[in-house]
Amino acid sequence: MEKHFKRTTITSALPYANGPVHIGHLAGVYVPADIYARYLRLKGRECIFIGGSDEHGVPVTIRARKEGITVQEVVDRYHNLIKDSFERFGISFDVYSRTTSPTHHKLASDFFRKLYDEGKFIEQVSEQFYDEQTGHFLTDRNIRGECPRCHAPEAYGDQCEVCGATLSPEELINPYNAETGNPLVKKPTKHWYLPLDKDQQWLEKWILEDHKEWRSNVYGQCKSWLDGGLHPRAVTRDLDWGIPVPIEGAEGKVLYVWFDAPIGYISNTKELCDANPEKFGPWEKWWKDPETRLVHFIGKDNIVFHCIVFPAMLKAHGDYILPDNVPSNEFLNLEGNKISTSKNYAVWLNEYLDELPGRQDELRYVLTANAPETKDNDFTWDDFQARCNNELVAVYGNFVNRALQLTQKYYEGQVPACGELNAYDKETLAEFCDVKARLEQLLEGFKFREAQKEAMNLARIGNKYIADCEPWKVVKTDPERVKTIIYLSLQITANLAIAFEPFLPFSSKRLREMIALDTFSWEDLGRTDILPAGKQLPKPELLFTKIEDDVVAAQKKKLEDTLKANAEAAYKAAPVKPTVSFEDFEKLDIRVGLVKSCEKVKKSKKLLKFILDDGSGKDRTILSGIAQWYEPERLVGKRVLFIANFAPRQMMGEESQGMILSAVNFNGDLSVTTTIDDVRGGSQVG
Ligand code: 2FM
Ligand code: ZN
Repeated sequence: MEKHFKRTTITSALPYANGPVHIGHLAGVYVPADIYARYLRLKGRECIFIGGSDEHGVPVTIRARKEGITVQEVVDRYHNLIKDSFERFGISFDVYSRTTSPTHHKLASDFFRKLYDEGKFIEQVSEQFYDEQTGHFLTDRNIRGECPRCHAPEAYGDQCEVCGATLSPEELINPYNAETGNPLVKKPTKHWYLPLDKDQQWLEKWILEDHKEWRSNVYGQCKSWLDGGLHPRAVTRDLDWGIPVPIEGAEGKVLYVWFDAPIGYISNTKELCDANPEKFGPWEKWWKDPETRLVHFIGKDNIVFHCIVFPAMLKAHGDYILPDNVPSNEFLNLEGNKISTSKNYAVWLNEYLDELPGRQDELRYVLTANAPETKDNDFTWDDFQARCNNELVAVYGNFVNRALQLTQKYYEGQVPACGELNAYDKETLAEFCDVKARLEQLLEGFKFREAQKEAMNLARIGNKYIADCEPWKVVKTDPERVKTIIYLSLQITANLAIAFEPFLPFSSKRLREMIALDTFSWEDLGRTDILPAGKQLPKPELLFTKIEDDVVAAQKKKLEDTLKANAEAAYKAAPVKPTVSFEDFEKLDIRVGLVKSCEKVKKSKKLLKFILDDGSGKDRTILSGIAQWYEPERLVGKRVLFIANFAPRQMMGEESQGMILSAVNFNGDLSVTTTIDDVRGGSQVG
């Protein structure tokens, strides 16, 4: 049975303050959360929308060491940058605070202490790697050593990037501190664990039976964690950045970042309520009243923490409500590649806002239209341009502009009176009268992508109506009829300004100004008398303008340059292959061939067909996959190296009689190896 709630606490994952936010974060978490918060407020429902920066954990400390600044400087820089970008982008948090705030340190510390005092943790001593010279324990990623599989010298404690093996630090040969190079020893250390195995039963019932309505990706991930059996999890770490473990004898230890970060939602609520007691009341009502609905917006890598670990913490504390829903999205890729903060491969929000000023709604629109709600999706700049130009400009903007311009032209900006409706008018109205119910159903079900489509469909209805009715023609023969057409078009326009408000707040506001709609309510949706006859409208402006080709080209180039720079930075010569004997080497018959002709192979993007003078007096045909890198004419007359006794192969219906040697450049480009000019075709190399 559906439960009735009085109010909603909306949280959005606290982004790490180790870099700016990017479009992946926006599409996954902040845009959907903001749509939901704006929708609830518009409906007049009591809610709070909580945000903030996650400023603890290892990544911020790594960034600080890399840049030679303090960790506090790192988190200050990114917290301010993120907060400011969210504001400029219209993410309507009621509060955006940070986990380094004194309120949070106290609340998280007290939370831990209560659980500790009540014996909710287990204590366990284990052996961890330790750098005796710096006096630090190390996390897996900070440990390096020789790979036990391929013997690459610099494998990480969790993975070897040369052979791809998944490793644990114990397996490394001669482990050392990745930053200092110091050798490591094993040392016992004590930590506190949340015994999640004891929560297995109630979590199974609560999620698998009572929350079958959760998105299938969320439900599925929870099920597989539960099916695998839960184990105790350490909630403390040996680190010098974070919230000190509030127990005697725990010096040098801090709360694990995933223990304190979700408590940040509560601390930030407290800050909000303490600062605005009249508006929001006591913070406890948002976290402890069973009539409050708690909803966490997160990305898929956060599911286990929000659906299993945090609920277990809340339950252990005893007096908190549990999340009612956790609408998690999948990931957004960028031009076919994974978005990566550490590799600087992303569309950063702050840069977008600077480089495409005033285009917040364009990005919001595209990220929702292409939201990774059920599967990973790809953002491309071509798709961005197409959606902006073909949908926002050509449908929504075009319709609104026509309706408003014609009102100016025929009626000096006054809303005309509606005459008698004809069958087509009635048909059109019937199409949009239930837009409110449809939008509500989709928004309440967290189907934001479908919901925005529904709003856009209303614009399509309007665009079609005005195009079909052709008031610019009818005006010559039946001016009375035109009044009705424009009246209805203006009512659809007003409906659009309301329907798009949660999705596109900037353009909705401008549109409301253009139709002088000062007071409005979600409840008006579907009405056909929002703008009364005789109302004076100001002069309109264009609602959306086209995204030009050069803007898209510049953004694409920026990403390509990053990929190139990354490939260059990542380049390391491949390890030398196992030794071969002279006899083995002699088996290869490497020769010089003079290129007599070279041409593209039809229907193949990769292959070039070479005819070589190999000294035998007969032509030798070799196909080589280097078409991407060479204009064939450039190679004619060159001397290339080829393997003469390579087994012939059929390729694209031709026999290739050997292999032409190429060097593989670090970025994957191929370069044909050529030789000096004074050797004859057929000369042996060795
Ligand atoms: O994945 C992340 O970016 C984390 N900083 C999210 C934390 S969410 C919450 F628990 F604060
Ligand atoms: Zn290896």
